[in-house]
Amino acid sequence: MFKIGDIVINNKVVLAPMAGITSFGYRKFMSQFGPGYVVTEMISDMGLIYGNKETLSYIKFEKSRLPTCVQLFGSSPENMKKAVQISESLNPNIDFFDVNMGCPVNKVIKTGAGSALMKNPKLCGDIVRAMKEVTNKPITVKIRLGFDMNHLTFMEVINEVTKAGASLVAIHPRTTKEMYGGQPHWDLVKDLRNKMSIPLVVSGNINTVEDAVNALKITGADAVMAARGAVGKPYLIKNINNYFEGKDVELTSLVEQANLCKELARNLIDEKGEAIAMRVFRGIARLSGELSTYDDLNSIINDYIEENLN
Ligand SMILES: Cc1cc2nc3c(=O)[nH]c(=O)nc-3n(C[C@H](O)[C@H](O)[C@H](O)COP(=O)(O)O)c2cc1C
Repeated sequence: MFKIGDIVINNKVVLAPMAGITSFGYRKFMSQFGPGYVVTEMISDMGLIYGNKETLSYIKFEKSRLPTCVQLFGSSPENMKKAVQISESLNPNIDFFDVNMGCPVNKVIKTGAGSALMKNPKLCGDIVRAMKEVTNKPITVKIRLGFDMNHLTFMEVINEVTKAGASLVAIHPRTTKEMYGGQPHWDLVKDLRNKMSIPLVVSGNINTVEDAVNALKITGADAVMAARGAVGKPYLIKNINNYFEGKDVELTSLVEQANLCKELARNLIDEKGEAIAMRVFRGIARLSGELSTYDDLNSIINDYIEENLN
C-alpha cells in the first residue's frame, strides 16, 4: 500500500502514460485488469492554453473507477500552472497531475519540455511548486536517469521536486539519448526508494511478472508501471496483482482473448469513431493490412479462431 496525497493505492502495478495509446477508451479497457491508477497520454500545456481541439479532447474524459492522473508537459512554471487551472475547470474527474520530465522526442525537448527538464533540476522543482499554488490535488513527476550517461541528474531532480512538494516520482531508468532501446539501468537505481521520502514507481521493460518482481526488489519501489509489456497483453497487470496476492497466474483462452480484442475495439470506436479507432487498434494489435472497420476485425478474429481451434 502507498499513498499519493490522500489517495490510497493498494496495488504494485499501475498503467503507464503512452501517447497515442492510453486514451480514455484504452484506460477503461485496462481498468478491469486492476492497475492501481491510470495516466492519460501526455497533454501539452500550450495546447490547453490555446484551446486546441485535439488537446481538449484528451482532458474531457469521464469518471473512471480507478484514480486517473492527467500528465502535462511544458517547460514554464507559469504555463504549467495555467494548464492545471484549465484542466480543472474542464474536468472534475481528475484525481492528480503528473509532469512529464521523460519524453525524449525532439519535437518536445527542443521546447525545453519532457526530458530536457532533466538538465535543470531547479526548474523541475519550480514547475511542481507553481502547480501546487493552484491546486490541492497531488502533483507527481515522471523522470529519466538524465540526459545522457555523463549527466545523471535523477537524484538532484528527485530532491528538488520532493522539496517542492511532489507526492510521487516515477522513474524510467534510461537516459534521453537511449530513447526506448536496450536494457534499463537497474543497477543505477538500486535501493533508490531508501534514499527517498516519497513513493517511487519504476518503469522500463516490465514485460513479465518476473520483471516486475525483480524491478521492485532491486529498487525497493512501491510499484511498477506496465507500458509496452501490457500493450496487447493486458493480463500482465492482473498476473502481477495475482502474484502479490499469492494467487496463480491466469492464462487466457483464445476465445477470451478474442473477446477482449473486440471489447477494446468497441471502446475505441465509442471514443474516436470507427476509422480512427481501427487505425489505433492496428498499432496496438500490431496488425497490418486490411483493417478499417469493426466487421473486418470480426472476420480476422473469427478466421483466426477457426484455424487455431481445429
Ligand atoms: C508509444 C509510447 C508512448 C509513450 N508516451 C509517453 C507519455 O506520453 N508520457 C510518458 O511519461 N511516457 C511515455 N512513454 C514511456 C512509457 O510510459 C514507459 O516509461 C517506457 O515505455 C518504458 O517502459 P517499457 O520499456 O515497459 O515500455 C511512452 C512510451 C511509448 C512506447
